[in-house]
Amino acid sequence: MKIAMIGSGYVGLVSGACFADFGHTVVCIDKAEAKIEALKRGEMPIFEPGLEALVAENVKAGRLSFTTEFAGPVSEADVVFIAVGTPSRRGDGHADLSYVYAAAREIAQSVRGFTVVVTKSTVPVGTGDEVERILRETRPEADIAVVSNPEFLREGAAIGDFKRPDRIVVGIEDERAREVMTEVYRPLYLNQSPLLFTTRRTSELIKYAANAFLAMKITFINEIADLCEKVGADVQQISRGIGLDGRIGAKFLHAGPGYGGSCFPKDTLALVKTAQDNDSPVRLIETTIAINDTRKRAMARKVVSALGGEVRGKKIAVLGLTFKPETDDMRDAPSISIIQALQDGGAHISAYDPEGMEASKAVLDNVTYGTSPYDIAEGAEALVIVTEWNQFRALDFQRLKAGMAKPVLVDLRNVYKPEEVARHGFAYFSIGRGTSPMVAPVCEAAE
Ligand SMILES: NC(=O)c1ccc[n+]([C@@H]2O[C@H](COP(=O)([O-])OP(=O)(O)OC[C@H]3O[C@@H](n4cnc5c(N)ncnc54)[C@H](O)[C@@H]3O)[C@@H](O)[C@H]2O)c1
Repeated sequence: MKIAMIGSGYVGLVSGACFADFGHTVVCIDKAEAKIEALKRGEMPIFEPGLEALVAENVKAGRLSFTTEFAGPVSEADVVFIAVGTPSRRGDGHADLSYVYAAAREIAQSVRGFTVVVTKSTVPVGTGDEVERILRETRPEADIAVVSNPEFLREGAAIGDFKRPDRIVVGIEDERAREVMTEVYRPLYLNQSPLLFTTRRTSELIKYAANAFLAMKITFINEIADLCEKVGADVQQISRGIGLDGRIGAKFLHAGPGYGGSCFPKDTLALVKTAQDNDSPVRLIETTIAINDTRKRAMARKVVSALGGEVRGKKIAVLGLTFKPETDDMRDAPSISIIQALQDGGAHISAYDPEGMEASKAVLDNVTYGTSPYDIAEGAEALVIVTEWNQFRALDFQRLKAGMAKPVLVDLRNVYKPEEVARHGFAYFSIGRGTSPMVAPVCEAAE
């Protein structure tokens, strides 16, 4: 198959490289010239484990190339994927579809012969109809089928997720697209990854329902963690205790500083907007968003209270900035709100992240970046783990303690065992692990 991939960001580049690896011929197109020039030189514009080698291999084999030009690759393609960004629209929180529609207009100029146009970007229900309308209005004679094929990969594990997906969802309105999409995903289909064909609108909504559910699951365990702190219970044991129940499942039950990243915040908001517009509000998700929004600054208050209620003039070292490990993505990372809230309280922030410091400089002011956990901890009154990179899992506590002004560790990801940290003489604060004294059971209190 000949594939044109429009948008070469986290999703477009990974999908393009993986499709090429399946044996298809893929051209990745992007408007951002610097990105395409870097890719042509073999430099990755993003950090994603394994991506550089996969891209290099497929470029060498002649199956993968990069360009800023639409006309050639789109006219030759059997399938054109749209994988551009769909951020929150400023002001109202709806998904900003301007990049998707701009891509559709560009595609319309160049398609030739029967072409399947696939929306891989996360788009609100009904967007496929509009993409089809744009294509037909611009080129009434074009022979096209518009398909929805949302992407479920996770940054940091994107290649594995793409090549071994739990399922592939394809929403079609034109039966001719079924055969083409089955061919596109043949290697996965042969590997028994379920290929789920639905209507286009159903497929679009599956993506939002999935992300909203996961965001809700995280938020649920975060609230249980707060309750644990009040009643002296341990949220990690609760996660295990409920996660072993097959109906619940163990994933996405790690209490932490609130969800962030390039998808959950914007997708939950967009779903709420779509639901409200259709007079069918999704109140669970509205509440999820509200809880998560307040949680990040609440995490900053946790740090303030670990420092005795006052951070003005104090140095606080932050470990981990990206919204999760193994990515350089800072979009809506919890670290942003936490650091800003601490700065509002007058704290000086030093920070270290293995991959996110460049991206962080664009969103955070007045942060001093260091070269290692030990470097930033020098003279600090507290060390705060915000993102659980593997290299933060075996810190040398004696070395940290020797450099810090005070041995205080606030672990917002529950990386460590409380006894272990205490043994090294640190005051230790984590999430949902009963630091408060146990309250008397209600029946006893009543007696
Ligand atoms: N990042 C993820 O983990 C993830 C996972 C699943 C789904 N998604 C969805 O996939 C879509 C893309 O996300 P992303 O993280 O890859 O975004 P991104 O911002 O990393 O990449 C988007 C790319 O599209 C390019 N672009 C924008 N308009 C263009 C146009 N008209 N023509 C050509 N290129 C254009 C941009 O220059 C950019 O390089 C979004 O809808 C997102 O919600 C993302």
